[in-house]
Amino acid sequence: MYTVPKLDNYSPDALDRAVADLLSALDNEIAALHSEADWKTFRDRWLARKNGVLTQINDTWLKAAPGPAKRDVGQRVNDLRQRVTDRVEQQKRPDATIHVSGVQVGSFVGSMTMPALRASGTIVSIPRLDISLPGIQRPIGVKHPVLRVMDEIVAVFKAMGYSVGEGPEVETDYYNFESLNFPPNHPARDTQDTLFIAGQEGKPPRDRLLLRTHTSPVQIRTMEKHPPPLRIVIPGKVHRNDPLDATHSPLFHQVEGLAVDTNITFCDLKGTLDHAMKALFGSSVKTRFYPSFFPFTEPSADMQVSCIFCGGKGCRTCKFSGWIELLGCGMVDPNVFDFVKDNGYDSSKISGFAFGMGPDRIALLKYGVEGLQPFFEGDVRFLEQFA
Ligand code: PHE
Repeated sequence: MYTVPKLDNYSPDALDRAVADLLSALDNEIAALHSEADWKTFRDRWLARKNGVLTQINDTWLKAAPGPAKRDVGQRVNDLRQRVTDRVEQQKRPDATIHVSGVQVGSFVGSMTMPALRASGTIVSIPRLDISLPGIQRPIGVKHPVLRVMDEIVAVFKAMGYSVGEGPEVETDYYNFESLNFPPNHPARDTQDTLFIAGQEGKPPRDRLLLRTHTSPVQIRTMEKHPPPLRIVIPGKVHRNDPLDATHSPLFHQVEGLAVDTNITFCDLKGTLDHAMKALFGSSVKTRFYPSFFPFTEPSADMQVSCIFCGGKGCRTCKFSGWIELLGCGMVDPNVFDFVKDNGYDSSKISGFAFGMGPDRIALLKYGVEGLQPFFEGDVRFLEQFA
């Protein structure tokens, strides 16, 4: 058991030695602690105001120190008081981490001998690991709500025999516009608020790069690779030059669909999309088709679903119309097939339909979120609600 020695030498070296002796005695006593009762005795021995080791140090080292050494001794005694108090208190916490020769070996509960240390020739009595303590919680990530909706949409079409396709987000003017029957300088291009890659003036217009404004270029890319028949869904990111607000985002998502075969009609388009909407929103949902325009489909339509909030009676979300516009669609324009004629897409023999929908908007509706912003801001307080 450690007893506080009287000092007759107050040189820095001698003080260093005295401090080191005291700390190693402290560690030895800690290693011998086995129970809460042990710890209480140990604490009193070191910290008791009356005659605890710290008090003794104050009395025998500091008070007895000669004038010139007082300052140095005072500093060391203060420092020791802090260190000893910390070490003693640390032993009390049941989850306190215990270190043996600098290696973390467990938490304070009882005592055991660690085989690895014994094997190395050192027999050390170390505290037992309390496996009943709560563990460290590591939150598990979940799918982003928009990704979840995209996966659901894709699953609905997979079940109907569709394959999944992908294409690049940095696209050429040819795939994004020209082959989709947007003639050069056609005003329909203006509706897409395209972001172009800078510094490409030297290239022929059709080779210039841009951020794809829709997933439709993957229609052509897929038809170039695979002859008909074809059924494919294409989930992906798209970009337009729009600032982020409740209904717009410079980056958003689309799920494109394309079906090509002999005798595909507008009935197939309606039946397929009606089924998909019922699978996504529930069997009571209704669909209706309004005439619209896209350069790459003819005829073209906008599809609306009966409001999933009010069931069609009229509410704030559907602006009291009972309907919500959800996607663009149409029969593939023969001019589009002409760009892939060499791969078997002869518009006198085959036909097809295409559609494109926005999963961001669908996620807004499905989860009752007010605006698009939180989907793109990465705030975990919003995202963890979907865990
Ligand atoms: N690409 C169109 C858009 O982004 C949507 C669409 C896809 C329309 C396929 C018809 C057919 O607005």
